[in-house]
Amino acid sequence: MQTTHQIFFENAKTMQAISSKSIGLVVTSPPYPMIQMWDELFVRLNPAIDEALNTNNGMAAFELMHSTLEPVWREIFRILKPGGIACINIGDAVRTVGDSFALYPNHVKILSQMLGIGLSALPHILWRKQTNAPNKFMGSGMLPPYAYVTLEHEHIIIMRKGARKTFSSSTDKDIRRESAYFWEERNNWFSDVWMELKGTRQQLVDNSVRKRSAAFPFEIPYRLINMFSVKGDTIVDPFLGTGTTMIAAMAAGRNSAGFELEPDFTLALSDGASSAVDMANTRINDRLEAHLEFVKNRTDVGYEFKYLNRHYGFPVMTRQEVELLFNRPLRVKETEKKSFRMDYSSSPTPEDCYRVDTPIRPATSPRGKRSSNRI
Ligand SMILES: C[S@@+](CC[C@H](N)C(=O)[O-])C[C@H]1O[C@@H](n2cnc3c(N)ncnc32)[C@H](O)[C@@H]1O
Repeated sequence: MQTTHQIFFENAKTMQAISSKSIGLVVTSPPYPMIQMWDELFVRLNPAIDEALNTNNGMAAFELMHSTLEPVWREIFRILKPGGIACINIGDAVRTVGDSFALYPNHVKILSQMLGIGLSALPHILWRKQTNAPNKFMGSGMLPPYAYVTLEHEHIIIMRKGARKTFSSSTDKDIRRESAYFWEERNNWFSDVWMELKGTRQQLVDNSVRKRSAAFPFEIPYRLINMFSVKGDTIVDPFLGTGTTMIAAMAAGRNSAGFELEPDFTLALSDGASSAVDMANTRINDRLEAHLEFVKNRTDVGYEFKYLNRHYGFPVMTRQEVELLFNRPLRVKETEKKSFRMDYSSSPTPEDCYRVDTPIRPATSPRGKRSSNRI
């Protein structure tokens, strides 16, 4: 198995290289309107924003910044296949403009722009982004009523273009089954509040680049890609930054394409790609180990598993996990300028044998069989 990954240093308002109705999933995080670190970029895209900020017209600046993003949302609609999904990570902003403190609700604006373009909203996720800044409590301190609630979360808006797509051919069904996630991962990933992302150990780039790019934690695109696409799909990120989405796509066995205005991130993108094999294998190890721990805990309290995974031989909760298979990234190669190819194992490896600490043997029935609870 192989995947390809292409970076375009172009404005994503026209993603010319991507055909209409060709993409199953977009995962992205735009520059956040009304967060100071992005003012300069927005002013470059529309100089009228400078005037609005200088005349203390916060709402005008907010609207103008969002109008620079809207063409990208329209492009996303164009490139998505019917049934395709877009996940947009966005934080709201709080800011004092002139002498007026206010919330600028970025997630509301983007959600309503995307609804206007014709996408349908699906239930969305809040993730906890805790701050330990000493000045995190703003306003009148212990005196009511003008102390302000601290923003310690971001939103992941999830939208779909049209109706659900179907998986009708037997190849499509097989790929979908191999792309399954564990039952216990489903219970965590599909909850609408993600609490524990800050501690996620995988960080792709050093702290200074991460600050300048506002990179999101690897775990965000990694989960979203596993939740909303199947192996071999192509994931697009129109605001690629340091390439976290691209690395997550590599780790999950999906193709990807990304757009970025800032050529300064070239080095971070190449470094990220070269660390992707280790990164992906670490995450796969974590998932296998977490599953084995889950099985052990259930078995210890007397639970009898009904199914075995047919690639690894370990118990799983449901029939849908019987075909679940991790393709381990083996090597990544820069093919042409800003294009990468990743090679994968197509079956469990000796590494998995060691990890699962159980003989790797296909179950006798193609849909798995009853487990003896041996693990
Ligand atoms: C919030 S950052 C994305 C960070 C990324 N998720 C990561 O993990 O590194 C937004 C990025 O979008 C880029 N950008 C802003 N407007 C753009 C546009 N119209 N086309 C392409 N890239 C754009 C910025 O240069 C910035 O790197």
